Amino acid sequence: MTETTQVPTITLNDGRAIPQLGFGVFQVPPEDTAETTGLALDVGYRHIDTAQGYGNEQGVGDAVRDSSLGRDAVWITSKLTNSMTTSDEIRTSFEETLRKLGSDYVDLFLIHWPLPKREGSDFVARWKVLEEFHADGRARSIGVSNFEVEHLQRLAAECDVVPAVNQIEIHPYLLNEEVRTFGEAQGIATEAWSPIAQGEVLSDPVITEIAERVERTAAQVVLRWHVQRNSIVFPKSVTPERIRENFELFDFELSDDDMEAITSLDKGEAGRTGPNPNEFTG
Ligand SMILES: NC(=O)c1ccc[n+]([C@@H]2O[C@H](COP(=O)([O-])OP(=O)(O)OC[C@H]3O[C@@H](n4cnc5c(N)ncnc54)[C@H](OP(=O)(O)O)[C@@H]3O)[C@@H](O)[C@H]2O)c1
Repeated sequence: MTETTQVPTITLNDGRAIPQLGFGVFQVPPEDTAETTGLALDVGYRHIDTAQGYGNEQGVGDAVRDSSLGRDAVWITSKLTNSMTTSDEIRTSFEETLRKLGSDYVDLFLIHWPLPKREGSDFVARWKVLEEFHADGRARSIGVSNFEVEHLQRLAAECDVVPAVNQIEIHPYLLNEEVRTFGEAQGIATEAWSPIAQGEVLSDPVITEIAERVERTAAQVVLRWHVQRNSIVFPKSVTPERIRENFELFDFELSDDDMEAITSLDKGEAGRTGPNPNEFTG
């Protein structure tokens, strides 16, 4: 596939259009991030998902700056790290994010985890600081990550801005359907993190059978399933062939039966690979 491949966009509740397919850089070593992200940009990705906690925002900023693309051609998401709790810490760390990205704005800034059990950490108070960044235009969109229904309900009751997205763990073994449905009813778009469960779902016989039949790889089948469910995805890879492979999702379609077969692999809570957001304290 070439740079001309048209990645669909999803329109967020603030009217901004995010490319539905992006590139995730969790666990990409900081020293390799500029090169790996540069390759993703060459392949055609125009949406990069990083975080303060990944330690590689600088590499993302360098890659965008070193590319022939203008800053406005690439959607960059970053996330507030868990240790930032006071308003001053949050403001200072956000300025640091912009400095590392080499930009006077970020496209989307998220609260990384709600941390309901962490002492002295109130996600409503943190959200109000993100609302400041949104109001002054330095965070063009703001959203949350790993928020459960009750956390979204508190934001709705106590805050002004509805999150543009909720970035949550979703893959065939964990549908996370209650959170997804509740958020979408409020106009919150769903971003699916670990979309291939870090590779865990790729050897599932249901998925490998479909992949063989439609002559695609297992990763492409699972990523296409996300696309057809209207989720925003950003698979991570440091392997050039996989970075290309994961971008080739828009010239085939899964049938309703294949979509359902993948959806039926859900294991509920047992399928979760990351921490439970209600328990996680950072
Ligand atoms: N908000 C949150 O709390 C949160 C949590 C986790 C992730 N995320 C975001 O979601 C992004 C994606 O999630 P993730 O990195 O956890 O996992 P993922 O994208 O589901 O899987 C990445 C793993 O799968 C391998 N892989 C990638 N493409 C492949 C392919 N075509 N065939 C076979 N293996 C393949 C990669 O290996 P190689 O790299 O060795 O090629 C890597 O080990 C992250 O980078 C991050 O941006 C957010």
